[in-house]
Amino acid sequence: MTRRQSLNRGGRVDSANEAGSAATAPGVRPLLDIRDVEVRMGRRAILNDINLSVGDGDFIGLIGANGAGKTTLMRAILGDITPSRGDIRILGQHRARMGMIGYVPQKIELEADLPIRAKDLVALGLDGQRVGFGMRGASFWKQVDHAMRGVGAGDFADRPVGRLSGGQQQRVLIAAAIVANPRLLLLDEPLANLDPANTDDIIALLDSIRRERGISIILSAHDINPLLGVLDHVVYLAEGRSAIGATDEVIRSDTLSRLYRHHIEVLHVDGRVMVMTGQNSHAHAGDERRTVPGRGEGADDAG
Ligand SMILES: Nc1ncnc2c1ncn2[C@@H]1O[C@H](COP(=O)(O)OP(=O)(O)O)[C@@H](O)[C@H]1O
Ligand SMILES: [Mg+2]
Repeated sequence: MTRRQSLNRGGRVDSANEAGSAATAPGVRPLLDIRDVEVRMGRRAILNDINLSVGDGDFIGLIGANGAGKTTLMRAILGDITPSRGDIRILGQHRARMGMIGYVPQKIELEADLPIRAKDLVALGLDGQRVGFGMRGASFWKQVDHAMRGVGAGDFADRPVGRLSGGQQQRVLIAAAIVANPRLLLLDEPLANLDPANTDDIIALLDSIRRERGISIILSAHDINPLLGVLDHVVYLAEGRSAIGATDEVIRSDTLSRLYRHHIEVLHVDGRVMVMTGQNSHAHAGDERRTVPGRGEGADDAG
């Protein structure tokens, strides 16, 4: 345990007081501030003692197995679920201003014969921002086009969205979520159906979005390994417990073993970090398939 950590009764590890953000200086109102949040479903507490502060351009990984509460936390941030305890604020307010949060929900099925083009889907992300419909003028489509080019989806803007590959569809969904220029982007398991190459491409894309545009990102996933090189902070959820903090504070054998209540190995080899869950790998499906470059590597991505 480092000086900045504390461990609560639930097994939570938090960065000290201002849990989370490296980008939020003391006294500065954070973009997103989650304090002591508990969410109950019936008699069961799905989320306990969640504390997180997110600053501009932060990249947060929300990691956990199926049923750990990842979607529940996103829905609470969106205001769709009211916590039974605690407080969630966006720039100090309980309700986000319209358009402030972009959202890519979990598992969107885009059927092959869906009669809409990729750019029509992105346009829906902008429609919601306007009062009434029927105002899709030149500047509207220019904004759609700009968002699509920004995520490398310009070339397939006119193709039926259901005919695109998984990686292409994910780019279109990201364009739809950022076309209205949000401050915070929530992505619920956007990597779930992607092969390793597409996974790395989408992660690199999101990393550039937050660096170039200052949009903060919260991304949920089962497997942290492909994300280790880009995450600033991690929210690890398991059976109502959580470990929250800077990535290098949470991604440690002692912290993760305490969270999961069985041994988790965190390997550091040649500047790479890899989380090995051994037999109980349900919590990290597929995480033994590869190692992941740590920070400072990946210069070859630039070209
Ligand atoms: N509307 C609901 N009513 C009751 N229980 C729910 C509801 N939504 C989710 N849950 C339960 O909350 C837990 C967390 O679900 P969820 O947030 O979807 O997990 P994850 O996204 O990490 O897979 C699960 O046990 C799930 O069964
Ligand atoms: Mg979910």
